[in-house]
Amino acid sequence: MKVHKSVLDTIGNTPMVELKSTIPKDSKHRFFAKLEFFNPGLSVKDRVALAIIEGAEARGELKPGGTIVEATSGNTGVGLAMVAAIRGYKAIFTMPAKMSQEKRDTLTGYGAELIITPNGVEPDDPRSHYSVAKKIADETPGSFYTNQYHNPDNPQKHFETTGPEIWDQMDGQVDMFIAGAGTGGTISGVGKFLKEKNPDVKIVCNDPVGSILYDLFYHKEIKNPPAPYQVEGIGEDMIPECLNFDIIDDFVQVTDKEAFTVCRDLTRKEAMMVGPSAGSALAAAIKYSEKLEKPSNIVVLFPDNGSKYLSKTFNDEWLKEQEII
Ligand SMILES: Cc1ncc(COP(=O)(O)O)c(C=O)c1O
Repeated sequence: MKVHKSVLDTIGNTPMVELKSTIPKDSKHRFFAKLEFFNPGLSVKDRVALAIIEGAEARGELKPGGTIVEATSGNTGVGLAMVAAIRGYKAIFTMPAKMSQEKRDTLTGYGAELIITPNGVEPDDPRSHYSVAKKIADETPGSFYTNQYHNPDNPQKHFETTGPEIWDQMDGQVDMFIAGAGTGGTISGVGKFLKEKNPDVKIVCNDPVGSILYDLFYHKEIKNPPAPYQVEGIGEDMIPECLNFDIIDDFVQVTDKEAFTVCRDLTRKEAMMVGPSAGSALAAAIKYSEKLEKPSNIVVLFPDNGSKYLSKTFNDEWLKEQEII
C-alpha cells in the first residue's frame, strides 16, 4: 500500500507551476510559482513547524505531554497545532488582533488555545504577541517556546527541503528567486541553497510598505518608522535572527493595493487561490523583472492559501473600507 503514517508525512514536495495570464504579455521572462499552499495546513509554515518540533524533541527541550508556545501570524500556528494534535502536545498561541477571523477559527479548530494581543504595539512592549508568548512559556511547566523568528531549525528546513525541491523542479535553470520575509526563514534557507548551487542566482525580497526591512537592508538604519499594512505574514517591525541579509541581493517595496490586486488576479486568471503575500511576491517579481536585461527564469514562492482570507481579500466591502480598492 502507498499510505502515509500521518498527515505530517505529506508536508513538502509541493508543485511548481508556470504562470501565464497574470504576467505582462510582452515580458521576455518566464515566471514559475512554487505552490506552498499544497501543504496540509495550507502554508509553507508546515515545513518549519515540523522541523522546529523535531529539533526540540531531539534535543530533549520538548518532552511527551509538553506544551508548545508560539507568537504567530497564524500559519506557523496551524503547522504547530497539527504537530501537537498528532504527537499529543498542548498548544498555546498568541496572535495580533489584525489577523483574519479564519486564521483564529482554524487554530482553535485544531484544538489550540489562542490569546489575541493588540495591534501596533512595540515588540518589547509587554502587551506584544512576542512578549505575551514569552511570559506564558516562562510560567508554564513543561513548555517549549518555539521562537520561530530566531530558531535556526527554521531556515535550515528550507535549506534542506524547499531549496533542493526548487533546484530539482527547475532542472537548475533558476535565474532569480523571490519571496517575502516574515521570520526570513524561507528566503534565507532557499537563498543559501540556490547560491551554493549557483552564486549568480539573484535572491530578491518583496517587502510591504510600512515594514522596516527595506530601510535596514539599504540604509542600515530605520529611516521610516514601522507603519501599519494589511498584507499578513511578511515584513517586520523588528529584526529576526533567521533573516540573513547577506544572501539577499535586492528588496522591492510593495503596497497593499498592488499585493491585493495581484492576489485576486491570481485566483481569477490562474485559478490559484493564494493569500496576499503571494500577490506581493508576484507584484514585486514583475516590477523587478523590468530591470533584468537577459531573459530570465523567475521563481516566485506563494506561501499560503487564499481561503484563510475570505473575509478580507475576497470581500469587496472590507477592501473598500481599508481604501485598498
Ligand atoms: C502568509 C505568509 N507569507 C509569508 C511568510 C514568510 O515566511 P518566512 O517566515 O519564512 O519569512 C509567512 C510567515 O509567517 C506567512 O504567514
